[in-house]
Amino acid sequence: MEGSNVLMVDQNKLPFEFSIYLSKDYIDTIKAIKSMTVRGAGAIGAAAGYAMAQAFIDGKDLSEEEFFYHVIYAGECIKKSRPTAQNLFYAVDRVLNVNGSTVEEVVNNAVLEAQKIADEDAEQSREIGRYGSVLIKENAKILTHCNAGWLAFVDYGTALSPIYIAKEQGKNPFVYVDETRPRSQGARLTAWELCNEDIDHRIISDNAAAYYMSKGLVDLVIVGADRIALNGDVANKIGTLEKAILAKHYGIPFYVAAPLSTFDANCKSGNDIPIEERSEEEVLYQTGLDSEGKLRKVLVASPCSKALNPAFDITPSEIVTAIITNKGIIEPRENLILELFIS
Ligand code: MRU
Repeated sequence: MEGSNVLMVDQNKLPFEFSIYLSKDYIDTIKAIKSMTVRGAGAIGAAAGYAMAQAFIDGKDLSEEEFFYHVIYAGECIKKSRPTAQNLFYAVDRVLNVNGSTVEEVVNNAVLEAQKIADEDAEQSREIGRYGSVLIKENAKILTHCNAGWLAFVDYGTALSPIYIAKEQGKNPFVYVDETRPRSQGARLTAWELCNEDIDHRIISDNAAAYYMSKGLVDLVIVGADRIALNGDVANKIGTLEKAILAKHYGIPFYVAAPLSTFDANCKSGNDIPIEERSEEEVLYQTGLDSEGKLRKVLVASPCSKALNPAFDITPSEIVTAIITNKGIIEPRENLILELFIS
C-alpha cells in the first residue's frame, strides 16, 4: 500500500505479461477481487484488508456518524465481492474492529491492521512450509491442484510452500500441475511460479491424475483451501474433491495446507460453506496467446450450448489425511477447530 493506493500483481495477465494493477480506492479493489485480477484465498484476504483501509482513508473527512456508516457499508460491499474464501471475511472484520480516540488515529490503525494481516499471512505461509516439508521425501512426486503458491497467499503460498522449502533443503521435488479448468490457475499460475523457482514439473490435463496415480507415480497430493469447516471439511477449487477421492482409492496421502485464518468456526460442516457459481463464459471461452503473440479470448465449446460453472467443491474430512497449518499438522476430525481456537 502506498498512501491510499494498493498495488497488486495482475494475475489475469500472467503468465504472458507481468504487470501491476493500481487500485486507487476500495471500489477499485473490489473490482480487482471480482475480476480475479487478485485471487487465491490469502491474496484476496490481504486485498480485502487493504480495501477496508482504503475505505477508512476515503472517509476521514466525514462527520463521525457518516464515517461510521461509510466504513460499515464499505465492509458489506467488500464481503459481497466473492463468497467462499474465508480470509476475505476474516480480514474485513479485523480492520473494521480497529479502535482509536480520534478519526485520524482510527484511520492510521486501519492501515496498520491491513499491513499486519498481509505480514502475518507471509509468516504463516512460511510456517506451513516448514511443517509440510517434513512430509516430502527426497525425489518425491507431488500432485497439486489450482494455484496455492505465492500468488495466492502472501510471499510463500500454502500448498506450494512445503515444496519450496523441500527444494531449498535439496530434496529435488517433482510436481504434477493440474491444469485446473476453467480458469487454468494450475497451467498458468502454478506452472509459472514453479518455473520461477526452478522446480521440475509437468502440467497435466485435469483428467490425467488417475492415470499417474494408478501407475504408482504420485507419492502425495497437497492442495490449498478456501475455507475449512469446524469438522474439517475443506472447500477448495473445483476438482479438488475428485483428486481426494482418487488419492483415497490409490492409498496416496492427501494433504490440505492452510493457516488458521482459513478455518471458519461458524461453519459446522462443509454444507454451511457457500459455493461460488461463476459466469459460464469461463467454461465456454479460453484466453491465451495467438501465433502473433497477441492475447485473445476464443470460444472453445459448442456455440449453441450453455455451461455450468461452480468454482469450488467440498472435500469431506474423512478423505483428508491431514491439514498442514501454521501451528502444525493436524488430523481432521469433529470439532478439531474449536480445540485449535481454544488452545
Ligand atoms: O478462485 P480462485 O482462483 O481464487 O481459487 C482459490 C484458490 O486459489 C484455490 O482454491 C486454492 O487452492 C486455495 S487458495 C490458496
